[in-house]
Amino acid sequence: MERRVLVTGGAGQLGTAFRALSGTAGFAVTALGRGELDVTDPRSIAAALDKFPCDAVINGAAFTDVDGAEGQRAQAFAVNGEGAANLARACAERGLPLVQVSTDYVFDGAADNPYGEEAPTAPLNVYGESKLAGEAAVRELCARHLIVRTSWLFGATGKNFLTTMLRLAETRDSLTIVDDQQGCPTPAMDLARALLGMLGQALENEEKAWGTYHLCSGRPASWYAFAGEIFACAAALGRPVPVITPISSAAFGAAAVRPAYSVLDCGKAKARFGVALGDWQPGLEAALSQIGARETGRERA
Ligand SMILES: NC(=O)c1ccc[n+]([C@@H]2O[C@H](COP(=O)([O-])OP(=O)(O)OC[C@H]3O[C@@H](n4cnc5c(N)ncnc54)[C@H](OP(=O)(O)O)[C@@H]3O)[C@@H](O)[C@H]2O)c1
Repeated sequence: MERRVLVTGGAGQLGTAFRALSGTAGFAVTALGRGELDVTDPRSIAAALDKFPCDAVINGAAFTDVDGAEGQRAQAFAVNGEGAANLARACAERGLPLVQVSTDYVFDGAADNPYGEEAPTAPLNVYGESKLAGEAAVRELCARHLIVRTSWLFGATGKNFLTTMLRLAETRDSLTIVDDQQGCPTPAMDLARALLGMLGQALENEEKAWGTYHLCSGRPASWYAFAGEIFACAAALGRPVPVITPISSAAFGAAAVRPAYSVLDCGKAKARFGVALGDWQPGLEAALSQIGARETGRERA
């Protein structure tokens, strides 16, 4: 029998991936945008859970503007901290498990080998602080939880590093890209598929399933190296490609400080669920071909 999972943040890049994967791993997915389920409003959560009965909830809703969060601390905490708490409370009341998606930015990036789940957290920016508050709330309020930290999500839709690079390439001949931050680019589709697999297994065999996990793709890169691979693929598809030059984070001067190294050790998810994401290159090619097909469709229409 198909299980039903309710996804919040349904209009975001991860939410969109979940919607596309409805039917995967035995899950029928209902992905709701903010208009239908606002995590900052407990009545909106209750109404959505009444309207769409489900077997589990995945929280893909978040305030994800990392630089914007520096000046909007209250808003970031309202969604990422209190919003996660509201959802955790509602899930616990109804006996529903909750998957909370979290981030590599809970770490300070001072390490030089991959972060395990138990590594001390010390976020450098407001976004990371607010996501850490969300994790703590979920742990406290909803025992049946999977908190899954991931990193550097990208896909064919939404605002992410890939779509930003392609957009900038339309109008710029050269770009400077940060080269002193290392992380693992992760296709949103790969993550969404893996989360459904983990959740399915957790529901089948709950013993020792709930807890905190890391899940990102298997190959670290700097933003500069990631951009290089994006533009190599883009060039092969005949898209415009700028000259890229590496730059330090300090010289780039983003509003939010980011960890220099945020590679996650994903061994626990592999050991417990047999789940591991591979290289991100196939996900990059798939996203680029999806973007190309969308543009061709638009031209034809
Ligand atoms: N993107 C990354 O690189 C990355 C890395 C690590 C972890 N994560 C985590 O992965 C998850 C998914 O991220 P994403 O990349 O899919 O982000 P996204 O594309 O920004 O999607 C987040 C969605 O949440 C919605 N939202 C904001 N406030 C809400 C509220 N009060 N109630 C309900 N929905 C609300 C947003 O709607 P509006 O558009 O209306 O604001 C947006 O559609 C998040 O938990 C994020 O923290 C992301």
